Amino acid sequence: MTVEKEHPRVVVIHGPNLNMLGQREPETYGRTTLDSIDKEIKALGIELDIEVETFQSNSEGAIVSIIHRVFEENIDGVIINPAAYTHTSVAIRDALLLLACPVIEVHLSNIYKREKFRHTSLVSGVVNAQITGLGSLGYSLALRALKELMK
Ligand code: DQA
Repeated sequence: MTVEKEHPRVVVIHGPNLNMLGQREPETYGRTTLDSIDKEIKALGIELDIEVETFQSNSEGAIVSIIHRVFEENIDGVIINPAAYTHTSVAIRDALLLLACPVIEVHLSNIYKREKFRHTSLVSGVVNAQITGLGSLGYSLALRALKELMK
């Protein structure tokens, strides 16, 4: 008897101010809205046979709580752009340490080409990989990478 494996589940977590994409510093982040990034990643999920859930919050605690839910629900993979919390949040780093599933950190801009305070990511040491500076393409690449890592 062969047991069909359910589709792997991936949660995409967007941090603070990313709900303002399209209007926010377009010279840095482009004109693409978060809604269109989410639609694109969900469409790719269908193509890759991955169930994709997207989540955005401006609050650090809500991001910690969604990571707890990822742990409790045994989600198979995470894509996270912690936005400004990348550079400050020990709480998000600690929450990510709960997870055994692969996690990819994404940034739209190249954080290493920007102000010095953005060069430090508190989460990069606890994730599988970081994609930075490729705009919204970073999310699609992250999902394709997760497909391999979740095997
Ligand atoms: C960002 C980079 C962060 O430094 C910044 O605070 C953001 C977005 C990015 O996607 O390039 O809000 O994570």
